[in-house]
Amino acid sequence: MHQPFQFSIQAQCSQTQARAATFLTPHGKVETPRFMPVGTLATVKALTPAQLKGTGAQMVLANTYHLHLQPGEDLIARAGGLHRFMGWDGPMLTDSGGFQVFSLASLRTIQEEGVKFRSPRDGRIINLTPEKAIAIQNQLGADVIMAFDECPPYPASKEAVIAATERTYRWLKRCIAAHDRSEQALFGIVQGGVYADLRTAAAEQLVDLNLPGYAIGGVSVGEPGDLINQIVKVTVPLLATEKPRYLMGVGTYQEMVQAIAAGIDLFDCVIPTRLARHGAVFVRGERWNIKNAQFREDFAPLDAECPCYTCQNFSRAYLGHLWRCRELLVYTLLSIHNITELVRFTARIREAILGDRFLSEFGHYLAPPESHQY
Ligand code: GUN
Ligand code: ZN
Repeated sequence: MHQPFQFSIQAQCSQTQARAATFLTPHGKVETPRFMPVGTLATVKALTPAQLKGTGAQMVLANTYHLHLQPGEDLIARAGGLHRFMGWDGPMLTDSGGFQVFSLASLRTIQEEGVKFRSPRDGRIINLTPEKAIAIQNQLGADVIMAFDECPPYPASKEAVIAATERTYRWLKRCIAAHDRSEQALFGIVQGGVYADLRTAAAEQLVDLNLPGYAIGGVSVGEPGDLINQIVKVTVPLLATEKPRYLMGVGTYQEMVQAIAAGIDLFDCVIPTRLARHGAVFVRGERWNIKNAQFREDFAPLDAECPCYTCQNFSRAYLGHLWRCRELLVYTLLSIHNITELVRFTARIREAILGDRFLSEFGHYLAPPESHQY
């Protein structure tokens, strides 16, 4: 018997809260822990869906905010939904726009009803409300959709964070009331800034609503070093054990290992694709730049142990040549490598958890901060 969005835990680490699980969606399964690449405008930049599949990516993100601005959800619905429109038949998740409207939009006013802002595209005033964010995501048709939330900036006064967190809860209840499609799972988002008591209260309120999954938002917004880890450690234990847990916008090696140790299952981050566009690649935990002169006659692959298409077929010298000639292929090849690297990192963690070797293989990432940053 397969109910939609079944989440089954295969293994639980004996020394930490890390778990290996399978999350079933209408477009296939997601084996967790797993990194999810970001395809903001219904494309993971520079990659075809076949190349994306080749990286090992299972679930892919897109953004309500960007797709509403262009080409608009009506057009995507007429195209048959986001999956058909972009040619990706695997699991998808859309973010609600709650975060992007706060980080990207100008002339923004937040009211109880929702957020008003000026479209950076054509200057028209746009009103995004919880109901609208759900209606848009219903039209886009991703497997997982996110609640419309208010992500307070860092730093922010406790009063401001309380107001944002309470509003996020009221907005969540409006999202739930507006959502009536069983083929899409609505995840709630815990806010609360850096305040443990606010995070705790928000998480407790959220789990009472019995949603199919929970996310932690409002992290990686400029707060110092170890705070993400502290927020995750106080929040996760309150979230239901038998539901997927998603840490939004996080994707360094160390942050992911720490979060997995606390019981997080899903991650997303623009880092692998954004860095690729700047010529940067992850190689054995380090960050290199392909335009560096030392690679000019280096005929080794980026990483001899990487199974990606780029490493299987091309040398550092060739990639550096493409970069210096501004050849478009370089963006594709570097993105393939970087996404493969992060997806594979989480897939290796999953294997370690299944064999109860998580701490012995990845415990060194739990050591002091700063030691394993990109
Ligand atoms: N992406 C990264 N952080 C957040 C957040 O706090 N809320 C939403 N909706 N998306 C995010
Ligand atoms: Zn590679």
